[in-house]
Amino acid sequence: MSGWSAITWDVARAGGFTAFLLLTLSVALGLALSLQLQAPRWPRLINNELHNFVTVVTLVFIGIHVLAVWLDPFTQFGGAEIFLPFVSHYRPLWMGLGIVAAYLALAIALSVYIRPRIGYAWWRRLHYLTFVVYALTLAHGVATGSDTRTWWGIAIYGGSALLVTALLWRRFSRPIAPGGRAHPALANLTLAGAVILFVWALLGPLQSNWNTSANNGNGSGQRSSAQVALISDVELTSARTSIPKASIPTIEAAILPSTEAPEEEAGERETP
Ligand code: HEM
Repeated sequence: MSGWSAITWDVARAGGFTAFLLLTLSVALGLALSLQLQAPRWPRLINNELHNFVTVVTLVFIGIHVLAVWLDPFTQFGGAEIFLPFVSHYRPLWMGLGIVAAYLALAIALSVYIRPRIGYAWWRRLHYLTFVVYALTLAHGVATGSDTRTWWGIAIYGGSALLVTALLWRRFSRPIAPGGRAHPALANLTLAGAVILFVWALLGPLQSNWNTSANNGNGSGQRSSAQVALISDVELTSARTSIPKASIPTIEAAILPSTEAPEEEAGERETP
């Protein structure tokens, strides 16, 4: 991997995790505000200004993450792959969820400017889409990222999901104001959603063969489809005929004489 490629990918990874942590904080602050979680003797640390500020910084880091992904010379995403969901050559479904989440997050953040026109009730309904953004982002990070199976990746995703599930469950399971109503069905839906995500992560992205299914068998995501196709054919021929791989690359050598296949092509891009 070249130096520039290492920089863009590291910024993409760090930017992605920072955006995800900030999104978690923003969602948690919003829920804490509606739950009126304040210690009476403490200054009002949790307030609207902090919630708005964290949301803006989240958007900035989403921007950094997307820009770094776009500039990465290894994957060489085209503009359409970055802006249109589900057309990417790299983990298309899971990258698409991130793109949809980013558009929704932008729309929710900008909706504050049209609040006087649409009214508070509609603005509030729109704001509930934040939970959809959170769930899409969680699935996107877990299924697209190359750090999902590290201990710290699991800790970040797991800790975040536990915090948001607990606050959301508390929000729905009991009335938040005297005379208000509880929403037990929504509380149960929250728990069911969390369990489904957990089981899916366990059976999918946390398995060692996840790259193949997430990436539709397209190698590491490096933009060089001719090479990737050849490498896949070699793997396939070797597997089907039990001819050792070393004796097969004659076709590859004939067509791409000077190109050595980078080791990342065989599987997921390595992280340090
Ligand atoms: C709501 C906005 C988004 C958030 C919070 C977010 C967060 C994340 C996180 C946490 C990861 C895992 C990084 C890792 O494992 O090292 C990730 C991976 C990735 N994201 Fe996003 N993402 C968002 C939107 C997007 C968008 C819009 C795109 C594409 C235009 C995108 C493209 C990618 C790619 C290609 C990866 C794989 C990087 C890797 O393997 O390390 N993301 N994202």
